[in-house]
Amino acid sequence: MIHQELIQPGSIHVPFQEVRPKSYQVYMETFGCQMNEYDSELIRAMLKTQGFGFTDQSDEADVILLNTCAIRENAHNRVYGHLGKLKYHKQERGVVIGVLGCMAQNLKKELLDSQPFIDVLVGPDGYRQLPKLLTTAITTRAKGLSVDLSEYETYEHIIPERVSGVNAWIAVMRGCDNFCTFCVVPYTRGRERSRDPQGILLEAQGLAEQGFKQITLLGQNVNSFRFDHWDFAKLVTAVADIPGIERVRFMSPHPKDFPPALLDTVAQHPNVCSQIHLPLQSGSDRVLEAMGRGYTRKEYVQLVEAIRRRGDIPLTTDIICGFCGETDTEYSATSQLMEEVGYHAAYIFKYSERKNTIAARKFPDDVPEAIKTERVAQLIDRQKTISLKNNRRMIGQTVDVLVEGDAKKSSQQWVGHTESHVTVVWDKLCRPSQPGELLSVFIEDASASTLFGRPN
Ligand code: 5AD
Ligand code: SF4
Repeated sequence: MIHQELIQPGSIHVPFQEVRPKSYQVYMETFGCQMNEYDSELIRAMLKTQGFGFTDQSDEADVILLNTCAIRENAHNRVYGHLGKLKYHKQERGVVIGVLGCMAQNLKKELLDSQPFIDVLVGPDGYRQLPKLLTTAITTRAKGLSVDLSEYETYEHIIPERVSGVNAWIAVMRGCDNFCTFCVVPYTRGRERSRDPQGILLEAQGLAEQGFKQITLLGQNVNSFRFDHWDFAKLVTAVADIPGIERVRFMSPHPKDFPPALLDTVAQHPNVCSQIHLPLQSGSDRVLEAMGRGYTRKEYVQLVEAIRRRGDIPLTTDIICGFCGETDTEYSATSQLMEEVGYHAAYIFKYSERKNTIAARKFPDDVPEAIKTERVAQLIDRQKTISLKNNRRMIGQTVDVLVEGDAKKSSQQWVGHTESHVTVVWDKLCRPSQPGELLSVFIEDASASTLFGRPN
């Protein structure tokens, strides 16, 4: 059940703002993972249905929303930095400020107390309350809080308002029951629950009809997707069978219970992308055990071998450096396994203690900051070498690329991704194209992160 609590205005002085007979304009920024991007799309849809408008100019907004992440301390710090800047909008124009998502859920009233200019605080299961809480905050200045977690909320029947026209995220399950000892997600996003596959398929069909070419199925641990007699492999197959969907991706599966049927789906369906994100976290058995990951190094390697037997399926991963008690030898085991697997990409993080997690309660965060920093830098360096080697192998080959839009560095270039999710960039002058097109690109050069080519 969603609980909603209204709090009387605090002591901060807010200039009087006349309530105008127009639709209130919202400016929203999103931090963190793809699930947050997706949630922001849900929030846009819910607010627009209730008459709110959206602006990309914070100066013009009546409401400023930050959809936040809590996964590491630096995610918190980025939001605090932003909140500092927002005080100006509050003082000058009386804007209503809302903090949403995992950080709101994690810190709850503590955040309202420490940042009194926040008007509305809503966690990942409370977004249906947002239109009402914002309207109340705008019209009466009462603060609002909705931070109860739900066992059922999947935002069924709400069609997200998507920003991109090529890839669409669909969250197929929410929450996580794994309780890896370092991770705050089970506390900020609550218990696992899956969406009804019929709703997912209808949504995917609608997306195909609107011209979306790629669907990315999201879940904190997609292996846990269950609904009646449906499992995740069956769902992926059904989405892949929808006419018009060129590519289906998913993230993330957990190595501890990777379903063999999912591997069959990847190997047998040409439009299910041959690429798997398989978070390793550590290559040391002692550390994996302390992290509560539920697999050993050997089991992880066996899974990698099983994947490799099914074909050329590039792997990407997440790694944490400097987890509680991590010795040089344990760190080296991770580094060595990274080399052995030869990931296409690795996201490497410094361990960041999160309040109330099992690790925070059980183990001291005792690896010195300087050592964490050094280990992360070394692994990033090592991964760059591996990625460069993998990417240089592509020179001289022709790859299918889904055109996504302007390249980050130049609007004179297009950017897209290969099936294995490697970024490809090429000059627009080479050939007229448009986002959503599937193009054959001949690869001429490569860096650790990008392939450079020309369309055939
Ligand atoms: N510290 C550092 N990295 C973390 N991750 C999750 N929690 C933490 C933490 N407390 C990383 C894991 C996970 C990814 C999404 O974020 O590697 O797979
Ligand atoms: Fe966090 Fe582990 Fe759940 Fe992933 S599987 S969200 S790392 S608790």
